[in-house]
Amino acid sequence: MMSTTIENPNYAYPARSKRGPSFEKAGWIFMRASGVVLVVLIFGHLAYNLIWTPGGISAIDFGFVGGKLADPFWRWWDVTMLWLAILHGSNGMRTIVNDYVHKPRIRQIALGAIAVAAAILILLGTLITFTFDPCPPTADPSLLPSFCADL
Ligand code: HEM
Repeated sequence: MMSTTIENPNYAYPARSKRGPSFEKAGWIFMRASGVVLVVLIFGHLAYNLIWTPGGISAIDFGFVGGKLADPFWRWWDVTMLWLAILHGSNGMRTIVNDYVHKPRIRQIALGAIAVAAAILILLGTLITFTFDPCPPTADPSLLPSFCADL
């Protein structure tokens, strides 16, 4: 039987050693593990918001989101979905850049931009998830949703 050996397509990072822990292998496993968890988180999120909530998409407004973020269960659900989606998405983009961007300087800039964007999104997303207050006590009452008056 004839066999063909193809060149390692990912020449951005030639394999250094076959022994010891490998970041690339960890990344490969992470993509699969986070993919499985994301299926549960994303479809759970969609089912709850669009199917199990009476009124479906028309019921989604500021009060609905405010109410969800007041519940620790949904805060942790949302923040886990946020972290996994951003880490999974940015690690996937890293793979694409390593596969297709061959100029070292451009690759460095692209990978840096992905890392900075991921860090900012994770930081701001986590901050807002845990600090969101739909009725801030010092705000102008005319700018607040009507349900704040009842609190
Ligand atoms: C529904 C849940 C998801 C599952 C099951 C899933 C699964 C996967 C798997 C297994 C890979 C690796 C493919 C490979 O190495 O050849 C991958 C790659 C990737 N994923 Fe996801 N993913 C999900 C959601 C997402 C989300 C929400 C994003 C964006 C934020 C995303 C962005 C990416 C990107 C950019 C890649 C790299 C594509 C490539 O290597 O060609 N995925 N996904």
